[in-house]
Amino acid sequence: MAIGSTAALIPSAGDGLEVTEVVAKMPGPGEVLIENHAVAVQPLDVKMLLGGYTGAGPLYNYPVVLGTSGAGVVKVLGKNVKGLDVGDRVVFDTRAYVKSEANLREGTWQKLVTADARTVARIGDVTFEQAVLIDFPLQTAVGALHLFLGMGKPGTGDAEEKVLVWGAGGAVGSYAVQYAKIVGHTIVVTASPHDVERQKKLGAFEVVDYKAADVVGRLRELGPYKYLLTASGDVASQKALASLLQPQGGTFASVLGGDIDLPPNVERVYKPFSQAAQQDEHSSFRAWWYGEYLPQVLREYLVEPVKFSRREGGLSALQQASVDVFEGKVKAKIVINPQE
Ligand SMILES: NC(=O)c1ccc[n+]([C@@H]2O[C@H](COP(=O)([O-])OP(=O)(O)OC[C@H]3O[C@@H](n4cnc5c(N)ncnc54)[C@H](OP(=O)(O)O)[C@@H]3O)[C@@H](O)[C@H]2O)c1
Repeated sequence: MAIGSTAALIPSAGDGLEVTEVVAKMPGPGEVLIENHAVAVQPLDVKMLLGGYTGAGPLYNYPVVLGTSGAGVVKVLGKNVKGLDVGDRVVFDTRAYVKSEANLREGTWQKLVTADARTVARIGDVTFEQAVLIDFPLQTAVGALHLFLGMGKPGTGDAEEKVLVWGAGGAVGSYAVQYAKIVGHTIVVTASPHDVERQKKLGAFEVVDYKAADVVGRLRELGPYKYLLTASGDVASQKALASLLQPQGGTFASVLGGDIDLPPNVERVYKPFSQAAQQDEHSSFRAWWYGEYLPQVLREYLVEPVKFSRREGGLSALQQASVDVFEGKVKAKIVINPQE
């Protein structure tokens, strides 16, 4: 059996989005079909639509459906799905950017989305918007800090150990600050002067303006740092972190890559952190994230969601919303309801 649905898809390379009728197949074993009620437009998605970025390799056969995260209601359970029921309100991530054959069914810029049940979390009474605003960027931050840099789980940190989050103003940065605080560390951030008060509320001990001429000198006075993450990922930030790791050397994580000359004693960890839970090698992280930590974060309101604006128009609004994000015209995440 199959059900009629609607998707915003890219018909072929270089095209804009086309909102079109599609057929949603029934979920296979271990999968669920979800009626998707919220997507947040992420920088990654818009770079794929407008910036010529194709991810970690030749991901697709066109047509392509963008988006790897959503929130909605479980409509159909595949065989052998445990812990989820039809009618559950959930947030979820998919393999749309890691498995090209999964893209058309799992891209989240559509009304009905298939997801691996292992990457679906119940959200209780939390709104779809709040759930989708938190999951993807918080998971990126926790993936970078916990999975790849080795920071502990909540409550296991030492306040004597400092964390540096460069570019804490964005979603990934804001959640990185909050996670490091929940773990129990002392956090120093760089952010814009207008953001100082919010950063302190989120958990920053010190806030340094990333545009200040003496930013690296000031950060050096406030260090040393056990964990370093650039959540803006730009070249200047990566060079600054490499410089802060001198003379002893060390490791920093970056949300973006780039061909940058770094000193030989510095290791940069740049990964698709947001997709880590889709990899079987990270199955214990995946089980903790969807089965335990993300539901707890949502249920107990453990993090402050980032600002957002709702864009009316459903899937048809995604093209312009993407242009606005790509051109830096919006300072908050844009959330769209594909059912509109
Ligand atoms: N590797 C991964 O797995 C992964 C996953 C998710 C995101 N990303 C990447 O991470 C980046 C951030 O994503 P996001 O969702 O957090 O974006 P976002 O919420 O749109 O963050 C934008 C904010 O970042 C700050 N910012 C921008 N450029 C900066 C710079 N050069 N230095 C310091 N701060 C800067 C600005 O804050 P102010 O206005 O205060 O200056 C801006 O408002 C994007 O490039 C995205 O593609 C990577």
